[in-house]
Amino acid sequence: MPPRPPRSLRVLMVASEAYPFSKTGGLADVTIALAKTLGRRGHTVTLMTPRYRGMAGEPVVDRTRIQMAGAWFDVALAEIALGPNARALFVDCPPLYDRAGYYNEHGIDYEDNAVRFGLLAATAVDWLGRQPDPPHVVHAHDWQTGLTPVYLRDRGGPPSVFTIHNLAYQGNMDKAWVPRLGLGWKDFTVGGFEFYDRLSFLKGGVAFADHVTTVSPTYAEEIQRPEYGYGFDGVMRSRRDHLTGILNGIDTDEWNPEADPYLPQPFDAQNLEGKAAAKRALLDTYQLPVDEAALARPVIGMVSRMVDQKGLDLIAAMADGLPALDAAFTVLGTGEARYQDMWRTLSARWPDRIGVYIGYDERRAHLIEAGADIFLMPSRYEPCGLNQMYSLRYGTVPIVRAVGGLVDTVRPFNRRNGQGTGFLFADYRPAALAEALEAALALYRRQPRSWARLQKNGMRKDFSWDRSAAEYVKVYKGVMSTRRSTPSGGGGH
Ligand code: ADP
Ligand code: GLC
Repeated sequence: MPPRPPRSLRVLMVASEAYPFSKTGGLADVTIALAKTLGRRGHTVTLMTPRYRGMAGEPVVDRTRIQMAGAWFDVALAEIALGPNARALFVDCPPLYDRAGYYNEHGIDYEDNAVRFGLLAATAVDWLGRQPDPPHVVHAHDWQTGLTPVYLRDRGGPPSVFTIHNLAYQGNMDKAWVPRLGLGWKDFTVGGFEFYDRLSFLKGGVAFADHVTTVSPTYAEEIQRPEYGYGFDGVMRSRRDHLTGILNGIDTDEWNPEADPYLPQPFDAQNLEGKAAAKRALLDTYQLPVDEAALARPVIGMVSRMVDQKGLDLIAAMADGLPALDAAFTVLGTGEARYQDMWRTLSARWPDRIGVYIGYDERRAHLIEAGADIFLMPSRYEPCGLNQMYSLRYGTVPIVRAVGGLVDTVRPFNRRNGQGTGFLFADYRPAALAEALEAALALYRRQPRSWARLQKNGMRKDFSWDRSAAEYVKVYKGVMSTRRSTPSGGGGH
């Protein structure tokens, strides 16, 4: 019998974002919260992530040189504590990371992203090879770290877990990079990292990790179908026995209506007075009217990357009908110019009803979650989604499309038994969204007691990270056991 995995694990996480150091979306919240939660639960976690422009990170605890694409890079690793048993190691390599953007500038990807993120994976593998007590398991996230499992396989490292946060971002590069990144042509196959004659970082992660996870059970099913597979559905089906959906948690310290420094007044399910104060502050921040009529009118909030994924074309299609809803909108986000322009145009047309802020703003994000009555997330697809969970916690009723993690976190309100937490619509059609909006607004206006019940149902839900972290530990121990019983080290690909 192989020895059982130890109770307390050493985990190396590798990711391209970590809040508050770097963030474009939910990935950053997840990597940091998972690292901290695992640490609190007694595991030892190192999170390796690039040191982008403007990030602090002394002292340097290690230096190394990595060869990549015909050049040598000097790399320093700077340590910062995250909490009990958890730390981040910033990979400092200014020629690659000291730039205006993380992945792109003015919407154009850096042409050396293959080197930038190949180096992240190579540094992780180089580092762990030099540790007296190397990690038991390596956990890599999204395409940027997809080569980590590949290098680990090549160099005989510990087992790896790869998490897909978004299958649509695949890191597909010209195949000329294969030898330049130290990869073998023998793996440039359908079963390896080849994807339509290109080198796919994401596919490298999916094909070579010992286990693949994604961020909700429903998304784990969806990505095995062409509709949501973005060309990867066949690959996902081929790995279905090594694929698990683990729902994200939320950072309940960061997102807590009872102690949120961005709010004028705390609140909880027993006393929503502070929520009314947040609504006033929100309207005021967005320079919308704050009179009695405005306060009685429901406020619909959105915090979102402005990209196709988030369903903004549905809103564009029903834009003319927005004023008839007799609601106000407060919108926060950045992204594609056409969606930014759409919101700017709408707010110029109805300045008393539609407040828009194009930019990244932590305070506004909190104010919207707390001060809005309804949170809108009409996503085309949604691997997990965090904002709907923040909303539930703040008594802001979510209206979401019934996809991915949104299905797993929002339950449809049932008027008869008073159960449920929000409104869901299935078809990706403007009329279906309009119907859900009208149903929600009718309940808000005509049945305040049902509405209050709905709010409370959501506020009572537990989305803390402990449950999800425990599931990851099960996956980690699973890959460790499998490795032990197959001494050749094959990871099932
Ligand atoms: P995704 O990762 O697909 O963007 P999630 O719902 O998982 O979607 O996570 C989005 C995260 O990014 C949330 O923490 C949300 O508050 C935050 N966010 C998105 N856009 C902005 C913005 N413009 N300003 C502040 N926070 C934002
Ligand atoms: C991705 C997904 C989002 C998910 C986040 C964190 O950005 O789009 O649904 O919540 O990753 O896992």
